[in-house]
Amino acid sequence: MISKLRFKGKDFLTLMDFSKEEIDFVLKVSEELKSKYLRGEKHNYLEGKTIAMIFEKPSTRTRFSFQAAIAHLGAQSFYAMRSQMQLARGEPIKDTARVLDRYCDGLVIRTFGQEVVEEYAAYMSHPVVNALTDLTHPCQGLADLLTIKEKKGDFSKLKLAYTGDIWNVAQTLMVAAAIYGMKAYFARPKGYNPDKRIWKFVQEKMEETEAEVVLTSDLSEAVQGADVVYANTWHSMGGPEKEKEKRIKDFKPYQINNEVLKEAKKDAIFMHCLPGYRGEEMTDEVIEGPHSVVFDQAENRMHTEKAVLSLFIP
Ligand code: CP
Ligand code: NVA
Repeated sequence: MISKLRFKGKDFLTLMDFSKEEIDFVLKVSEELKSKYLRGEKHNYLEGKTIAMIFEKPSTRTRFSFQAAIAHLGAQSFYAMRSQMQLARGEPIKDTARVLDRYCDGLVIRTFGQEVVEEYAAYMSHPVVNALTDLTHPCQGLADLLTIKEKKGDFSKLKLAYTGDIWNVAQTLMVAAAIYGMKAYFARPKGYNPDKRIWKFVQEKMEETEAEVVLTSDLSEAVQGADVVYANTWHSMGGPEKEKEKRIKDFKPYQINNEVLKEAKKDAIFMHCLPGYRGEEMTDEVIEGPHSVVFDQAENRMHTEKAVLSLFIP
C-alpha cells in the first residue's frame, strides 16, 4: 500500500524516477481532486505555502494551470521569466536555488537542459517540479495518462500512435508506455531519434513490462488499429525551432488528417499536448473533429498538477 507520505519533499523531475504503482497513486489523487473541483468543494491543502515558478520558454497551459492549481490549493505562486532574474546577469543557479529555498516551499521550473532542473534539485531542500525540459515533460505525461484512463480505461491493452517531434513529449510518452506495458508506435522521418538516456530506460523497462515501444518511419504502421492517435509539433521550443523549415519538409508526410485517422480504431481518440499548428501536424478538421479530446487533456494538466503539488510539497 502506497502512502501519501512517500512523496513528501521529493522532486518531480521525470516519470523515470517513479514506479507504475506510484504513478497510479498520483493519478488516483488527481481524480479525487478533479471531483472535488467539479463539485465545488474546497481543497486548500497548501494554505500558507509559497511556490516559485521560473520559466525560460513561453507557456500558456503550464503557467496558467499551475497558477490556477496553486490558487485552488490555497498557496501563492511567484512567477518570473529567467530574463527578469539576476540569473540573466550571471548569478549562478546554485545561489539562486539556495535563496529561493529560503522563501518558498517548492519550485516549478521550465528550462532547456535536464541538468538545470537537476542542479536546482541538488541545491534546494524543497521539491523541484519539472515543467518541461528538452528531455521530458512529466506534468504533460500525467495529464495524458489521466485523459487516456478517463476515455479508454486500462492502459496495458491499448495501442498508441504518436507522430511529431521526438523530443520532450514523445520521450515522456515512451517512458509512460514502457512503464505501463503499452503498445506505442512513434512515427517520424528516419534520423529523428530519442535521447539515449530515455531509450535505454525504455529498452530495460520493456523487458519487465512486455511493452512494445516502436520507432517507425511508416505512419500507417503506427496508426493502424490505434486507440489513441497523438500528434505534436514538428519544431519544438529550443534546438528544433532553429530548423523549422527543414522539419516542415521532413515531417510533411506525417500529418494526421481525416484519411489517416480512418486507419485507427473507429472510437480512437485524438490527443495533442498543444500548442498545435493546424495544417502541419494535424488538420483543422481533426483537432476540431469528433475524435479530439485535446481540451479535456489540457484541463487535466491542472488536476494532475494539483496532485503533484499537494503530494510533494511538504
Ligand atoms: N502543453 C504545454 O506544456 O503547453 P504550454 O507550452 O502552453 O505550457
Ligand atoms: N514538444 C513541444 C511541447 C510544447 C508543450 C516543445 O517542446 O515545444
